[in-house]
Amino acid sequence: MTQKQPRHFLTLQDLSKAELQTLINRAIELKKMQHAHELHAYFEGYTLGMIFEKASTRTRLSFEVGMSQFGGHAVFLSPKDTQLGRGEPLEDSARVISSMVDAVMIRTFEHEKIETFARYSSKPVINGLTDAYHPCQLLADVMTFVEKRGSIQGKKVVWIGDGNNMCHSYINAAERFDFNLVIAAPSGYEPDPDLLAKHADRCELVQDFEEAVKGAHLISTDVWTSMGQEEESAKRLKDFSGFQVTESVLDKADTEVLLMHCLPAHRGEEVNLSVLDDPRSVVFEQAQNRLHAQKALLELLLKS
Ligand code: CP
Ligand code: NVA
Repeated sequence: MTQKQPRHFLTLQDLSKAELQTLINRAIELKKMQHAHELHAYFEGYTLGMIFEKASTRTRLSFEVGMSQFGGHAVFLSPKDTQLGRGEPLEDSARVISSMVDAVMIRTFEHEKIETFARYSSKPVINGLTDAYHPCQLLADVMTFVEKRGSIQGKKVVWIGDGNNMCHSYINAAERFDFNLVIAAPSGYEPDPDLLAKHADRCELVQDFEEAVKGAHLISTDVWTSMGQEEESAKRLKDFSGFQVTESVLDKADTEVLLMHCLPAHRGEEVNLSVLDDPRSVVFEQAQNRLHAQKALLELLLKS
């Protein structure tokens, strides 16, 4: 008997455009249910394994709370106190862990690691951030935009800063959700050229972000030094100076512009001290929406 292949969520491209639209609408519905204290314990007895090789506040909390609101359970696994940190092969770990849980969320370094884990996992694997992508964050970002402004299709989105994992997921999102993306990154910090070339019809790379933000409906940014790049931080501070998002940057955009940041933020670096508190900033609702968007994702994967 051949075993059913699990659905994974390693990048946004693992879900169809129609599935993503349904997921966003379902996330908004689940949020209303949760805020009304309507019980939705659809996954009693289900367990999510969560492997964190990097720090996290939002991702861990949202998956753990999400599973508990579904009547299920989440188990936190860190390489520090499991055999994952003592060299047990990933292929073996994937087979063992997935045999006892219903889905596995992984936050790690190289994207290839999560791909290997997924190949050997008998249950759905969710990317909770790799060096290359952060697709769960994009579910929350798009959900937040849709809640505040309606469909993101055809809108102008501007990414300011590092061509990092978040930027890559924005490129993927531009294709999946059909919006136009302008990326303003300093020289030497551009996103993966192959990924950019693949989506060149809707993604544009510029250096002058003051010009780029004109007419923007959404501006998004992220830290200049991502987890794992701490040794480069002094150089990055210098190279990114001038790429700070301030109120006057937002003033150049569309009057209805929203500001997003996946958080954690470094106030005084990629954002000034006050812009995250500007009425155009939606960062805290964006963070809360991680919970609702990932519950919709869990529902989709656990039911498939
Ligand atoms: N945005 C995000 O993923 O936050 P954490 O690193 O706190 O999980
Ligand atoms: N680019 C950041 C995102 C953190 C949520 C990092 O990888 O550290």
